[in-house]
Amino acid sequence: MFERLEPKPADAILKLIGEYKNDPRAEKVDLGVGVYRNAAGDTPILNSVKKAEHWLVGTQSSKAYLGSRGDIAFCDAIQKLVFGAAASDGRITTLQSPGGSGALRVAAEVVRIANPEVCLWMSDPTWNNHAPLLGEAGIKLQSYPYYDLDSHSIRFDAMLESLQKAATGDIVLLHGCCHNPTGMDLSPAQWNQVADVAAARQLVPFVDLAYQGFSENLDDDAYGVRMLIERVPEMIVTQSCSKNFGLYRDRVGALSFIAADEVTANTTLSQALSTVRTMYSLPPDHGAAIVSHILGDPALRHEWLEELVGMRDRLKEMRQLLVSALSDAAPDHDFSHVLRTTGMFCYLGVTAEQVERLKGERGVYMVGSSRINVCGITSGNVEYLAQSIASVL
Ligand SMILES: Cc1ncc(COP(=O)(O)O)c(C=O)c1O
Repeated sequence: MFERLEPKPADAILKLIGEYKNDPRAEKVDLGVGVYRNAAGDTPILNSVKKAEHWLVGTQSSKAYLGSRGDIAFCDAIQKLVFGAAASDGRITTLQSPGGSGALRVAAEVVRIANPEVCLWMSDPTWNNHAPLLGEAGIKLQSYPYYDLDSHSIRFDAMLESLQKAATGDIVLLHGCCHNPTGMDLSPAQWNQVADVAAARQLVPFVDLAYQGFSENLDDDAYGVRMLIERVPEMIVTQSCSKNFGLYRDRVGALSFIAADEVTANTTLSQALSTVRTMYSLPPDHGAAIVSHILGDPALRHEWLEELVGMRDRLKEMRQLLVSALSDAAPDHDFSHVLRTTGMFCYLGVTAEQVERLKGERGVYMVGSSRINVCGITSGNVEYLAQSIASVL
């Protein structure tokens, strides 16, 4: 049987990680990875997480199954984190998921069951796993324009024009903050305009919030979600604790449905739980129990918030360092758009050929689109990086 299978090509980012690992050059720079790194190049476990893990080991008395919805205290805590004051709205139902990816996939399965004809509109470009995760569930996908590579700005008019053409009931996938891969986010005024179109054309917003706290702060980063819930009858929100709690491999996320009324919200949840039962039965518990404890314990929550601010500030600082080093190394080129981006990623704005040369000639690794992970920059490598970039321009 297995001899019938075709080998699948390696994921582009995993391939890049392998190439970087095997590169013997001491001065090599890795801007390709998808995780946060500190100034020493590590992805450490947060202190707040370590403390919560100690607490968990000391107090947990059973590993018996929880239900398909996961840990209810976690679901309640995440609802508050994401929706703020609106969290008590009976129209919201939340289930715990294996990371943001698991939430995206379960959402897509429920959408297909609810409306097999629906089309889901994604930004061009978007996170490279959105199309496989959502499309493999069997829903139709379309793109709306999002980023202009020449001016390094959002193609907002073209985006709205595209959404005006979407059919009633279609779904619009929006990045809650820290757009991956461009780092270029909608302003509050632009979010409001998207809400106008969604309300007028009866589109269903689907907000993927994978980096809450990495752009401005927990509340501002949830602006889109919290505004939309007041403006539209139905919405989907996926959330990930991979980045803001650094719990990548523990697979912690959540999926929320917002329905027109409480009864429909509960029906939607029951459908999602039945879907979960056929996919992975129930989500992993460990990471969610940690998040739930941190969010519920004032001292630990405070410590986590400080650690989150530390990660966010480092991202801002590295952007400034890079742009300043580039203005010295390549004064005829404008990289100031990097300062208008947020989160871990942005487009550097060099060609695919220049990306290849950076890798071959200088040991500087990034994906072909020139998406860089800002965490790969340190005060120790920024000069070398800027000179490398200048050398291929
Ligand atoms: C935009 C976006 N959504 C969702 C995810 C899912 O993250 P995870 O499944 O690791 O929680 C990611 C991870 O990189 C992402 O960038």
